[in-house]
Amino acid sequence: MPASRYTDVAIVLHWTIALLIVGQLAGGLYMVRIPDSEAAFKFQIFQLHKSFGVTILLLSLARLVWRFTHKVPPLPEAMPAWERAAARAAHWGFYVLMIATPLLGWAYVSVAPLGVPTFLFGVVPWPHMPFFEGVSDREAVAHLFEEMHEYAAYAFIGLLVLHAGAALKHHFVDRDDVLARMAPFVRRKTSV
Ligand code: HEM
Repeated sequence: MPASRYTDVAIVLHWTIALLIVGQLAGGLYMVRIPDSEAAFKFQIFQLHKSFGVTILLLSLARLVWRFTHKVPPLPEAMPAWERAAARAAHWGFYVLMIATPLLGWAYVSVAPLGVPTFLFGVVPWPHMPFFEGVSDREAVAHLFEEMHEYAAYAFIGLLVLHAGAALKHHFVDRDDVLARMAPFVRRKTSV
């Protein structure tokens, strides 16, 4: 019989990455509003944002490896085909954003004319991407990545709202075990 819930590794990665991403989105929206008069504080918060962003990137790559090497538990049989397709699209949308959003942020700081170095959590030096040496208009390319990073973050917020809403609908309206598959602390609706 196929497993009725995700493995412990998948569950720990899911909730760790989820917590980091929610914090990263809130922190990102906050930090771009810090006035330039608080330059030293702003610098520290940007460094923290970059540190957590790289952490999310590395954990997301681990999660993707898990996804390609494991079978996910099956969805309830009663679920209509359109809902299955929507769930699958949302999950792969998350993987795309979990990898693309930090890469776009990293690309932005790598090509930005200021060339501010990154030290993960104030200690580990993190290199700039090497692809931008020959770029002549760094300002314009940096602006493009900055905008793409921002739009990816907004897409993240939209997908998170949909995803959490769907999980709650499964639990409270459909009364199935879709949420319990990923949240072992939630009481199951069936005994399987
Ligand atoms: C999943 C990971 C990440 C998320 C969810 C995220 C989210 C955000 C958000 C919401 C903003 C504010 C956008 C705005 O309103 O202008 C932002 C800005 C920024 N992010 Fe990220 N970020 C992530 C990873 C990274 C990484 C890895 C880096 C660099 C190594 C980075 C560098 C930046 C920078 C420099 C800004 C400021 C851009 C500006 O000054 O307008 N981010 N991020």
